Amino acid sequence: MKSGFRKTCVAMFALVLALSISQAVSAQEHVQSAHHGFHNVEHWARAFESPARTKWQKPGEVVRALNLRPGQTVADIGAGTGYFTRRFASAVAPSGEAIGLDVEPAMVAYMKTDAKRLGAKDYQARLVKADDPGLAPRSVDAVFFCDTLHHLEHRVAYFRRLAPGLRPGGRVVVVDFKKKTLPVGPPPADKISREEMIGEFRAAGYRLVREHHFLPYQYFLEFEPEPRAQLSK
Ligand SMILES: C[S@@+](CC[C@H](N)C(=O)[O-])C[C@H]1O[C@@H](n2cnc3c(N)ncnc32)[C@H](O)[C@@H]1O
Repeated sequence: MKSGFRKTCVAMFALVLALSISQAVSAQEHVQSAHHGFHNVEHWARAFESPARTKWQKPGEVVRALNLRPGQTVADIGAGTGYFTRRFASAVAPSGEAIGLDVEPAMVAYMKTDAKRLGAKDYQARLVKADDPGLAPRSVDAVFFCDTLHHLEHRVAYFRRLAPGLRPGGRVVVVDFKKKTLPVGPPPADKISREEMIGEFRAAGYRLVREHHFLPYQYFLEFEPEPRAQLSK
């Protein structure tokens, strides 16, 4: 009996240790991603493009929910491997454009190769500065961020910089992880809650115009600049 109890304790201790190590590795990986960029594109492509992600990320449903029309232009900021950019390109074809913007040159190179492989002329990729995506005035119908905003500093100033780049009726769309422990994504401390995100957009002169609730791990928000912010363009 005693030996059985000891075996159970040892097994439980081993399980707790294994879970702690795996959480520490995952947190460390995230810390590395947050502070050291995404230059190891092969590693990140395995995560971003994995079929397991498709199950909870529901990219087809996300694109459908945005109701994009042929001829529109979408800027996917922090596009990574172009997971969403290539899907936006199909949604706005034949005369539209999806632009994958990223601070990481290796990601931009990956997207350019991806666009070439797909023969998609309406799928572009561009390197951007961390504090400014450099959108030309009134050039895009939608700006899209997925799991990127916690990497940005001074977000309110950044959001203000986006508004002049939007065409009339243009929106800024955010898909990001709910601030709680989840089986995927960064640890809660690194995430921005839905309420905080809405507050930051309000502070930057936007209002929440739509919200979608079908993603299990992420909130999905659509913002438009307040008329005042539009007038000051
Ligand atoms: C977690 S990945 C998300 C990739 C993609 N949005 C997706 O859903 O698969 C975050 C991406 O944001 C990029 N990034 C980080 N800070 C950025 C910034 N200030 N401007 C543009 N891209 C940024 C990173 O290089 C990385 O490719």
